[in-house]
Amino acid sequence: MSLALPVVVRPLVSLSDLRVELGGKPILRGVTANIARGSITALIGLNGSGKTTLLRALVNEYPHKGTIKFHCGHDHSKPYPEAIGYVPQRLTLDARLPLTVRDFLALTLSRRPLFFGISKKVAAKSREMLERVEVANCLDVPVEGLSGGQLQRVLLALALEPQPELLLLDEPAAGIDFKDQKKFYELIATINRETGVTVLLVSHDLNMVQTYAHEVLCLRSGAIQCQGSPNEILTPINMSLVFGAEIHMFPHRFGS
Ligand SMILES: Nc1ncnc2c1ncn2[C@@H]1O[C@H](COP(=O)(O)OP(=O)(O)OP(=O)(O)O)[C@@H](O)[C@H]1O
Ligand SMILES: [Mg+2]
Repeated sequence: MSLALPVVVRPLVSLSDLRVELGGKPILRGVTANIARGSITALIGLNGSGKTTLLRALVNEYPHKGTIKFHCGHDHSKPYPEAIGYVPQRLTLDARLPLTVRDFLALTLSRRPLFFGISKKVAAKSREMLERVEVANCLDVPVEGLSGGQLQRVLLALALEPQPELLLLDEPAAGIDFKDQKKFYELIATINRETGVTVLLVSHDLNMVQTYAHEVLCLRSGAIQCQGSPNEILTPINMSLVFGAEIHMFPHRFGS
């Protein structure tokens, strides 16, 4: 007779007493939380509660105290940025770059100067990356001519190359109309299902969080207020604790 081993679901990332100071001010004040492997975890909280700071600490952009432990099977005593895909809240590049999406991708995929032309390999890779996020028709569009939703997809394509273990999305659908927002979240859910990538996404849209997230982390003033499944967390009582206001959920009627 063989005994079945208990299934232990380990987190992909464990944060313990994570503290970040910016400009001499404490911003994260001892965050302790787990990010479940293979899940979509939504990070919610008021403006200024520290969501972007937490993501930037995860990619080692901000010095921190406490520990960030990656459980990836290889040495993550120092987080390797190539294992983490990141779509920032704001594009710090000038979106009016006089470049097409094809050039923009080639610049990040290739060390060869653009004035030598784009190699066949890089051209094929760029097309494949855009097909994956359903904007292959944007290859020849100037970056400044992309809609908000198309730009987010191009940035997502970059974040997915090379295949990350952790995908960090900072308000990826902010400013996109409801229909495109829904399509964007559907795409994230498909990528999560098909590749098993662990997703940590910041969102202010609690209905999208309810529909697409498996786990919710609530930040309030740089500390975790609560953590659990959307059904456990998105209750009027919790939401009034996190947001300081009464919030009632009116789920979107998808598919109609
Ligand atoms: N480089 C910095 N120097 C000093 N303070 C900073 C810096 N970056 C952010 N802060 C402050 O840290 C706090 C948290 O900012 P953060 O951007 O993490 O918030 P957030 O939760 O992402 O907010 P939002 O929902 O508006 O994006 C804010 O009070 C902000 O002013
Ligand atoms: Mg932010």
